[in-house]
Amino acid sequence: MTLILGIETSCDETAAAVVENGTHILSNVVASQVEIHSQYGGVFPEVASRMHVEAIQPVVEQAMADANVSPMQIDAIAVTHGPGLAGSLLVGVNFAKGLALGWNKPLLGINHIEGHIYSLWVSEDQTPILFPVLVLVVSGGHTELVLMTDHGKYLLLGSTRDDAAGEAFDKVGRMLGLPYPGGPNIEKAAKRGNAHAYQFTRPMQEEGYDFSFSGLKTAVMRAVQNPPAGGKRTRGMETMEPGRLKPEVNVDDAAASFQRAAVEMLIDKTVKAAQAYSVKEILLAGGVSANSRLRDELRHHAALPVRYPPLKLCTDNAAMIAAAGYFRVLSDPDSQRTQDWLALDVLPMLPLAPESAAPPAARSPE
Ligand code: KG4
Ligand code: ZN
Repeated sequence: MTLILGIETSCDETAAAVVENGTHILSNVVASQVEIHSQYGGVFPEVASRMHVEAIQPVVEQAMADANVSPMQIDAIAVTHGPGLAGSLLVGVNFAKGLALGWNKPLLGINHIEGHIYSLWVSEDQTPILFPVLVLVVSGGHTELVLMTDHGKYLLLGSTRDDAAGEAFDKVGRMLGLPYPGGPNIEKAAKRGNAHAYQFTRPMQEEGYDFSFSGLKTAVMRAVQNPPAGGKRTRGMETMEPGRLKPEVNVDDAAASFQRAAVEMLIDKTVKAAQAYSVKEILLAGGVSANSRLRDELRHHAALPVRYPPLKLCTDNAAMIAAAGYFRVLSDPDSQRTQDWLALDVLPMLPLAPESAAPPAARSPE
């Protein structure tokens, strides 16, 4: 039996969890800062790091108490060291270093995106996942289409050229005057709206596996907001406060039409890549994978099994980090022998896979 303590502080959740053998959650504690950041309409990085400093110790203590394990029983500590907000990552990494040093345990640096991917392995559905799989990681900070050929073996097929999917939900939510975070609130409003009320433009539909959401966001802005009095729009105006909504705009219809467009953009590329790379399954991960339209539409359009994490594991948590740590050790036992705790760096721009990895031969999509 292998017990891993996971620690996650890359954005606005302070989280710690104890996971047995990468699949069985003994504890999963998440202290969310959403209420504090909602007054700013997005994550305020300086505030986030301060909140992590306050929360980290009680959250880790709670995770150990809930799991009913002693430090002696922990085999390794896994911590997110990138990508994410530098100040936030620093709190988790430094705390983990202190624990690893004090408890004399191996320390594993985990990529946050890799963590999201492993949320699929810690989920309740225990039927084995068969490689190769295609993973769509969609969160507030990421939109990545990843080919995973084995544990720890990733090839980045595509990513966003501008806004992340969740970021687009958050910005459009703000435009429509919905509370932060926009994603779940757009989903709620969309349930009452007509998804065909607006036809928003969708750029880059034919090119490769990269995504772009800024065109869609601008299309929503033009459809729902009055231009600023006496002047042209300038770049970045889409993040402005609500209040310029055209009087005839139906927020529920706009939310539903935006959600339909965003979901279609995501599943078009995902289905195309799944066919081209002959994968056995499609996995969805990250905060936006909580979206039921995305889940349902992907299930409907993919001629393959589609898995997604339970809702509590879609958004940031540390169980997924502990699971990623377990599978790292399983595929590379040497990683656990590294006792050079102080060498673990915070890497705010850490990529999932080396950029230079050569793509395997793909069957061209029909
Ligand atoms: O994975 P996550 O907690 O944090 C990052 O790593 O970024 O994802 C948060 C993102 C936010 O942008 C939020 O609006 C989005 O996930 N989100 C959703 C839903 N629930 C959360 N987006 C669409 N539909 C949802 N139901
Ligand atoms: Zn995340």
